[in-house]
Amino acid sequence: MTITLPIEGQVLTCPSILVDRQIDKDRLSLDAGYTAITDGTVMQCGLFITFEGPEGSGKSTQARRLYERLQAAGYPVILTREPGGTRIGEWIRRILLDLRHTEMAPTTEILLFSAARSQLVSELIRPYLATGGIVVCDRYADSTLAYQGYGLGRDLNELRAITEVATGGLKPDITFYLNIDVEVGLQRKRASRERSEGASGQVAEWNRLDARDLAYHQRVARGFAELIKQEPERWHALDAAQSVDELAEQIWQVVSPRLVGITPIVAR
Ligand SMILES: Nc1ncnc2c1ncn2[C@@H]1O[C@H](COP(=O)(O)OP(=O)(O)OP(=O)(O)O)[C@@H](O)[C@H]1O
Ligand SMILES: [Mg+2]
Repeated sequence: MTITLPIEGQVLTCPSILVDRQIDKDRLSLDAGYTAITDGTVMQCGLFITFEGPEGSGKSTQARRLYERLQAAGYPVILTREPGGTRIGEWIRRILLDLRHTEMAPTTEILLFSAARSQLVSELIRPYLATGGIVVCDRYADSTLAYQGYGLGRDLNELRAITEVATGGLKPDITFYLNIDVEVGLQRKRASRERSEGASGQVAEWNRLDARDLAYHQRVARGFAELIKQEPERWHALDAAQSVDELAEQIWQVVSPRLVGITPIVAR
């Protein structure tokens, strides 16, 4: 998709990005530390990469590994997550994932995820992509179709329409699917939680959605498989039973050829 972006009176084109308001040029250069559009005449297109998959499949681990590798190579990159990634989104995340909120209606759940996504797209993702940067996001809109659509049985067209409103149609350029047996993934999370008892640092959280029954998680996994079939060019499904290093390498093999249009901040 190619869309024209009006910046400082210039007409520029950029695939995948739809900007519906005047870009704040000063803020962009500040955020990115990057000169792509400082004179209002140069526009670069970023790269939007998302990670999807069942609970405990290693999304956060691999999203961070990719972010660190890109950063070490000098690329302008940010790492973010859903729900969350912004001050407002992180508040919504707490409401969504709180184990006590068992009474949450499915529609409330969908709209809260979408509200957090809308904030993330407009506050962070679109502006950063518009500077030519790379956004690595731990879950995105596909999760809504898989979890609330296939998992909870909500109408997929309705979810697509809500997602369109929340994202303005912004889709990832690359989506990694970390494929793991649902029970193995949940077991990894449980193990991580048990290991973390009494310890500090990064641990896999156990939340309201994890606590749903196995059949739900299996429907979600089948839903992801359907989504992959519908857009095979965007998805890269990888066997998440492999080691962290093996997976990270396979992910890099997919991402590195796509970096051609991205200008590093520092010499590699
Ligand atoms: N390839 C792997 N092999 C074995 N264990 C792994 C692998 N990748 C991650 N883990 C471990 O599995 C647990 C879950 O990993 P991680 O938090 O990255 O998964 P996730 O998909 O982000 O989970 P969530 O669904 O909670 O967001 C962690 O304890 C992590 O160290
Ligand atoms: Mg995670």
